[in-house]
Amino acid sequence: MRDNQAPKPIRRLDYRPPAFWVDSVALDFDIYGDLTRVRSRLCLRRNTAADAPADCVFDGEMLVIESLAVDGKTLSEQEYRYQGGQLALLSVPDKFVFESVVTIDPRSNTALEGLYVSKGMYCTQCEAEGFRRITFFPDRPDVLSRFTTTVRADKSRYPLLLSNGNPVAEGEEDGRHWVTWEDPFAKPCYLFALVAGDLACLEDTFTTTSGRSVKLRIYAEHHDLDKLDFAMDSLKRSMLWDEQVYGREYDLDIYMIVAVSHFNMGAMENKGLNIFNTSCVLAHPDTTTDQGYQRVEAVVAHEYFHNWSGNRVTCRDWFQLSLKEGFTVFRDQEFSADTHSRAVKRVEDVDMLRTIQFAEDGGPMAHPVRPDEYQKIDNFYTVTIYEKGAEVVRMQYNLLGPELFRKATDLYFSRFDGQAVTCDDFVDCMEEASGQDLSQFRRWYSQAGTPRLTATDQYSNGIYRLTLSQQTAPTPGQADKQPLMVPVSMALLDQSGQPLVLDADGATETVLILSDATQTFEFTLPEQPVPVLLRGFSAPVELRYPYSADQLALILAHDTDGYCRWDAAQRLGLEAIRRIIAGSDPLVEAEQLLSPWRQVLARAAEDPAGAALLLGLPSERALAEQFLPLDPRAIHLARTSLERALGRLLQADIEALLPTLVVSGPYRAEAADIGRRTLMQRCLALLASGEAAGLGSRLAQQFGSASNMTERLGALRLLVWHGLPQADQALKEFAARYAGEALVMDQWFAVQALVPGEQTVAVVERLMGHSAFEMTSPNRVRGLLGSFANGNPSAFHAADGSGYRLYADALARLDRLNPQVAARMANAFATLPRLAGDFQVNMRLAVQQLRDGECSANLAEVLDRLLQ
Ligand code: TRP
Ligand code: ZN
Repeated sequence: MRDNQAPKPIRRLDYRPPAFWVDSVALDFDIYGDLTRVRSRLCLRRNTAADAPADCVFDGEMLVIESLAVDGKTLSEQEYRYQGGQLALLSVPDKFVFESVVTIDPRSNTALEGLYVSKGMYCTQCEAEGFRRITFFPDRPDVLSRFTTTVRADKSRYPLLLSNGNPVAEGEEDGRHWVTWEDPFAKPCYLFALVAGDLACLEDTFTTTSGRSVKLRIYAEHHDLDKLDFAMDSLKRSMLWDEQVYGREYDLDIYMIVAVSHFNMGAMENKGLNIFNTSCVLAHPDTTTDQGYQRVEAVVAHEYFHNWSGNRVTCRDWFQLSLKEGFTVFRDQEFSADTHSRAVKRVEDVDMLRTIQFAEDGGPMAHPVRPDEYQKIDNFYTVTIYEKGAEVVRMQYNLLGPELFRKATDLYFSRFDGQAVTCDDFVDCMEEASGQDLSQFRRWYSQAGTPRLTATDQYSNGIYRLTLSQQTAPTPGQADKQPLMVPVSMALLDQSGQPLVLDADGATETVLILSDATQTFEFTLPEQPVPVLLRGFSAPVELRYPYSADQLALILAHDTDGYCRWDAAQRLGLEAIRRIIAGSDPLVEAEQLLSPWRQVLARAAEDPAGAALLLGLPSERALAEQFLPLDPRAIHLARTSLERALGRLLQADIEALLPTLVVSGPYRAEAADIGRRTLMQRCLALLASGEAAGLGSRLAQQFGSASNMTERLGALRLLVWHGLPQADQALKEFAARYAGEALVMDQWFAVQALVPGEQTVAVVERLMGHSAFEMTSPNRVRGLLGSFANGNPSAFHAADGSGYRLYADALARLDRLNPQVAARMANAFATLPRLAGDFQVNMRLAVQQLRDGECSANLAEVLDRLLQ
């Protein structure tokens, strides 16, 4: 449906329970080359709740009706109305059987919602509202039904027929075969899944604590069969972790994951049949980087954890999306922290939150963790719902402590098993289990925007007074902000960097709870301390405190909190860049950073991954948040000049360190090895920035002889980004070698889209015409265009506006194929209101032109918010 008018907003407070329950549903899919016929049989029962509406309405989009029947009697066209995506039955009894036969055309489905075809394989994506493109149904998460699904297709082309639950019957006739699956757990239709194809399978088993044996199967294209071991290993470790940490066992006899090339997001937790973007399941040392491995592990865990936080207990309505997503992200973050380095994982997560979520929260797309209204729910699968939502769960975890939090989640899972519930239900369990009053805390769910926490202090007569105040700027639709309950974990260091004792128990860390707009906290101390605030990033706030460079260097050198050390390093970098923009000499600024950076280098062997993080300047994207009006070019030039100066000054230190970072032996995606490779890459990047002599041939040598993708791609990136003479040859060799590896070719496009400088606009335009570029592949589009717009400010913000125009034109074409992905990618324009001068003029022009063309409802919603 394409109309240029944005649809009416849907409001949280308009929630009403469903008019009918669907106790059971039997689906029958007949897959043919030209169309797919879907027969469905729903057993409906009127909801007698007082506030349930009376009419019987099903959702259904782009369905061609062959027949409809109620209690076996075919309906005439006078007995129903099908328009605007809704089918209304004009008169029905309180309990009845509804049967429909419809046809759909999965092969022409480029939106990748509902039933579609990816590389010859039929698969589904139903969350959030894709099921209505498959058959008529009350497509809302609070209608839970028992599903039985039969899939029929040509046996030689589609030897594998899968759906949720357990296979219970099968048969064949005339070259076609069928399989019937039964899911014993009632579920909302967004968790429905079906796959038909010819796939290879890796099999394993897992025995649960209570002794049940579960079959594990991961499916992919035949040539990817050798890339499934790591996902399988991750799955088994996730299953064990959820038993140990949350006491949650898996509940079916079989757990399947299917890897699909064309996928709008990362992966989907369909009951018993997860469907994954290939990028989140395939892993092999020759084709996957360390980062890729970590993503596979985290996403496998995330989708597995949804079996309890999402599937057994689901959402009442889509405003509660963070109930399952925030909680599940918190769970997968903790799994990764337990598996690798907790401190490094925390910094990576916070870096991403501060860079991307803070920007969302401070821009035109700002919305609460539990939004109040939306037009298209697809547009609300955001970093706010996921990552800020996870922070809100994490704060509750910290407020309760591990034991009471576990008591609360036990209560949550047992009380609401098999139900569709709300964020308030979750917090209720936290309150009941702990006896704590979280009424003010709940504002974290309802109030948008990142609170600014301002700290000031004063020391006199042996008393240290720390004053904290909070303020949240207005966000669209929310002018007035209330004070939140902000847990501020803190320590105080003495002038030698040692922690001071804060109370009679000898504690050196404490948690201050700020609940008013301003509060002062007092400590009796022998000397003036350096405050270390927000340890572990104890609340998702922006902290302001007038740190001196010496204080930051002290925290960086001596504090024990990984996050606060990293934050101190980031602040030092930020202030240096600020001064360069104001006219200071980059060399002078680099010299100021030398001593703290040298200390980090000297201690790098203790924790290479941590050192790699400390030796980073804030990204251009992170810096963009710090300047208003925003001049992306000034930021780029200043940051690049500082990086170059640091690279020159540190060359000898780095050369001395490099030999200690070489990882030998077979590739292992394990923290110690990943840490050394990461620091090695960071060191090489600094050398490249410093234009170290002979680096090109060293990188070309590494590129040619690397025994894993992390090192090969690492070398390629530096060759290409620094315009070294060996770059073109390496790009050619890379493309020839990996032409058959789609995920690697996505990286090949990304590397080129990320070359700093305006000339990249023309390169991206040329690459869009490359025979391997496909607008129908979200991974390819994200690889080229997403990298360009989100990861390469100096090109995207080209002074003449050509970067914006190129991107807007590409989104217009993409929108015709895939509105969900087009709308999501349009968020790259969200810096619009902050941009300086001509940047803003040019971007507004490009965005307005995009809006004036034909737009999907998804894209229109995003653009309208941007242009407001
Ligand atoms: N629930 C999925 C997750 O685990 C999100 C998701 C996957 C999704 N595919 C989608 C959401 C398509 C909307 C549309 O995070
Ligand atoms: Zn999820």
